[in-house]
Amino acid sequence: MQTAVAIRTNKLPKTIAAHTRFVYDHLASVYPASTYFFHSKAHKKTLEMSELRNGMTVLEIATGSGEMFRRLVRANPDGYTCGVDLSPKMAARTQRVARSRFPKSSLNCQAVDCRALPFLDETFDSIFCCYLFELLASDDIVLTLDEIYRVMKPGSNCNFVLIGQQAGMFNRAYDVAGALVPAFWGRQVANAIPDLVHAAGFRIKQDHLVRQGFYPSRILIARKD
Ligand SMILES: C[S@@+](CC[C@H](N)C(=O)[O-])C[C@H]1O[C@@H](n2cnc3c(N)ncnc32)[C@H](O)[C@@H]1O
Repeated sequence: MQTAVAIRTNKLPKTIAAHTRFVYDHLASVYPASTYFFHSKAHKKTLEMSELRNGMTVLEIATGSGEMFRRLVRANPDGYTCGVDLSPKMAARTQRVARSRFPKSSLNCQAVDCRALPFLDETFDSIFCCYLFELLASDDIVLTLDEIYRVMKPGSNCNFVLIGQQAGMFNRAYDVAGALVPAFWGRQVANAIPDLVHAAGFRIKQDHLVRQGFYPSRILIARKD
């Protein structure tokens, strides 16, 4: 018998997600370097802006190889920190490393497609979602925002990080990279996301730009009132 989540997942549109899973599964062991050089500054700033408090029930969507996930577990030793990623190898690596570094923390990471989150309504006190929307088709961004909104408690924040679009040269290079390997780079969407976030019912509380070398990031802190 199929579970409700499996039924929902089977109905999902067949988009670039299948290729993305294949590519990120094969990059699980080398991806930490990319996060270290390009994402770590934005991760740190997002955590500072997030209002996360120890003891919360926290979800990270699209953990990748788990660098932000470990920051969240470290900041939430008495709470529960849950992660999901489309790539089973990324999810397994994230869980293995986090459990070995934080053996006393309550944490879990699973292979899950963010377009159908396997959680009850209003489960989480805080959600993090970094550098995911670039990889989703437009309809899937809308589905994912609806899912995030559904599983957040009222009064909680979702903390998004996007690849910034404020640097012209970078944008041109990204267009080329995205055309060559769309399942890895996707395309830049940061300018379009605030309207979609509003349409899903959130209120954007903070909008902040960060640069790590030439790599721009945009942090959006969005509230479910
Ligand atoms: C660019 S990486 C970002 C990883 C990490 N969040 C970071 O900040 O470094 C994007 C991640 O999104 C995951 N992903 C892509 N599509 C997804 C989906 N539909 N559901 C869940 N995760 C997805 C990929 O497997 C990959 O690990």
